[in-house]
Amino acid sequence: MALDISIARTGSADDAAFVAEVTELVNNVYADAEKGLWQPGAQRTHAAELAAIIRAGELGVALAGTRLVGAVRVCRLATGEGEFGMLVADPAHRGVGVGRELVGFAEAWARGQGLPRMQLELLVPRDWTHPVKEFLREWYTRLGYREVRRDPFEQAHPTLQPQLATRCDFVVFHKPL
Ligand SMILES: CC(C)(COP(=O)(O)OP(=O)(O)OC[C@H]1O[C@@H](n2cnc3c(N)ncnc32)[C@H](O)[C@@H]1OP(=O)(O)O)[C@@H](O)C(=O)NCCC(=O)NCCS
Repeated sequence: MALDISIARTGSADDAAFVAEVTELVNNVYADAEKGLWQPGAQRTHAAELAAIIRAGELGVALAGTRLVGAVRVCRLATGEGEFGMLVADPAHRGVGVGRELVGFAEAWARGQGLPRMQLELLVPRDWTHPVKEFLREWYTRLGYREVRRDPFEQAHPTLQPQLATRCDFVVFHKPL
């Protein structure tokens, strides 16, 4: 499958249909991938947040032809690392390299910014093992990421804590670029 991955034009933040399409993809994918972690009705993102990410030039989108098949948010952290997050592949296009290409794109973006390391955070339940998160931990490890620390979710996002259905931590991974 020929994939075209690029940073979404900042002007597309004003394209309500495009913003809604990406928001729906992210929310649908996360509703399934983070089942059991959140209270019913909790959503990963909303249109205003995504529009702000697009306006900041931080949204990578993967297209197969004209169809949106994946997305990733990239940014530069105040601590000097690049970071990627909100990584999603359309369930109808899984296992064909969309995720791997998006991670490669995020790493190339960070290298292009002159950043020495990439960071990602994996939200995991504190007291049990989530199969999707275990798959991701193993995959990121294969891609060269190493766990550097574990942060309690409530420290990072105290206001979102009530929306969790179970106690969670962020496992923070780094990879030298
Ligand atoms: C993570 C995600 C983006 C991967 O997308 P994808 O396009 O299916 O992934 P790829 O086709 O690039 O494959 C990624 C890896 O998974 C493996 N894989 C893919 N499908 C698999 C399957 N059905 N069973 C086992 N392994 C599988 C591939 O072999 C590949 O490993 P490799 O790079 O070591 O060869 C996708 O599963 C997703 O959207 N998950 C939910 C959202 C999420 O949890 N995001 C991450 C938050 S930190």
